[in-house]
Amino acid sequence: MTTEIYSPGLEGVIAGETALSTVADGLSYRGYPVTELAEKATFEEVAYLLLHGELPTSQQLADFQQRIASARRLPGPLINLLGVVPREASSMDVVRSAVSILAHFDPDTSDSSPAANLRKAERLLGQIPVAVAAHHRLARGQAPYTARPDLGQAANFLYMLRGEEPTPVAARALDVSLILYAEHEFNASTFTARVVCSTESDLHSSIVAAIGALKGRLHGGANEQVMELLQKTGGPANAEKWVRAALAKKERIMGFGHRVYKSGDVRAGILRSYARQAAEAAGMLQWEETAAIIERVLAAEKQLFPNLDWPAGRLYHALGLEIPLYTPIFVMSRVSGWSAHFIEQQQHNRLIRPRGRYIGPEARSVRPLAERG
Ligand code: ACO
Repeated sequence: MTTEIYSPGLEGVIAGETALSTVADGLSYRGYPVTELAEKATFEEVAYLLLHGELPTSQQLADFQQRIASARRLPGPLINLLGVVPREASSMDVVRSAVSILAHFDPDTSDSSPAANLRKAERLLGQIPVAVAAHHRLARGQAPYTARPDLGQAANFLYMLRGEEPTPVAARALDVSLILYAEHEFNASTFTARVVCSTESDLHSSIVAAIGALKGRLHGGANEQVMELLQKTGGPANAEKWVRAALAKKERIMGFGHRVYKSGDVRAGILRSYARQAAEAAGMLQWEETAAIIERVLAAEKQLFPNLDWPAGRLYHALGLEIPLYTPIFVMSRVSGWSAHFIEQQQHNRLIRPRGRYIGPEARSVRPLAERG
């Protein structure tokens, strides 16, 4: 059946069903409001909820953490590759390649059963942060640190970057950002993951494609651009002049606006206090002040409000993380949502194959090459 409905960018189109999350009445994952999850749960509990359907018991969580911790290793050829990719390679391209290589070494690559997909998803949760941290260090001529099985996802990642255990406050701030980045119904990268799944392809291929979609500056790439933008303003004294000039030139202000949230993103409100607290601890309040000025101008002039990337970029900067790590951190988290969507799509699969509205030339006949001059 072909229904002649066309919405540019599929805006407002229901493109499938999901039990994973809804943005109705504020974002919730499997029925739990993210506000509550960010307050009462850890990223690992949330990843378990997304993948397994319910919040874990203490024993289920311990087993899950143990499985993830034991996956925090990379095959030798991948470590070698991470050491030789060109220095200027984008960190998102590197994480995309890393997942692709991990597929070659995964014992379940060709097994597409739901149980094997869960095992692969849990392994990727362990492996991706190790690959991101290892590449970050190798690109700077530093040896990677061995993962710490006793630390959670956020604390272990910070440990692997610096070789020292982070403060509980820093680890929790990163952890909350991972919770907020974990899942967001049919966003562009998740939809990409589901399209790949719908062709009966495999989980790693789906995640590789999703990483490619996330990289763009209109999606996950925005969190890196946020900090670059704030730095470009020069600070609070010049921020208002800078943002007004940018708006006059019709520039996009990264970290603002959203396809679904037109009056504000609940996740941005949650992470904002963590960004401020981290900035205070790091003596970087000038970026919070700059951000507040830009928020005020964009609300007044364009009725545009911050999305999650706006506080996330500032939080990561205040935690001392370098900008190329920001979108890979998004991957470390969203791999849980992507994988859960893959498993859900597989369970109720129908090939995703929409139609295009043709706007090309009228039907015409081919002139042989010799007659075309
Ligand atoms: N800065 C300036 N103007 C903006 C912005 C922005 N960030 N976002 C939207 N607008 C303006 C557009 O220019 C347009 O104005 P016009 O009607 O005068 O031409 C109007 O608002 C509508 O914009 P669209 O692009 O049609 O809205 P859409 O729903 O497609 O946009 C998007 C959503 C792509 C996220 C957009 O708001 C944007 O580009 N934001 C910046 C990138 C960003 O922060 N992405 C992160 C998304 S959230 C996430 O991935 C966690």
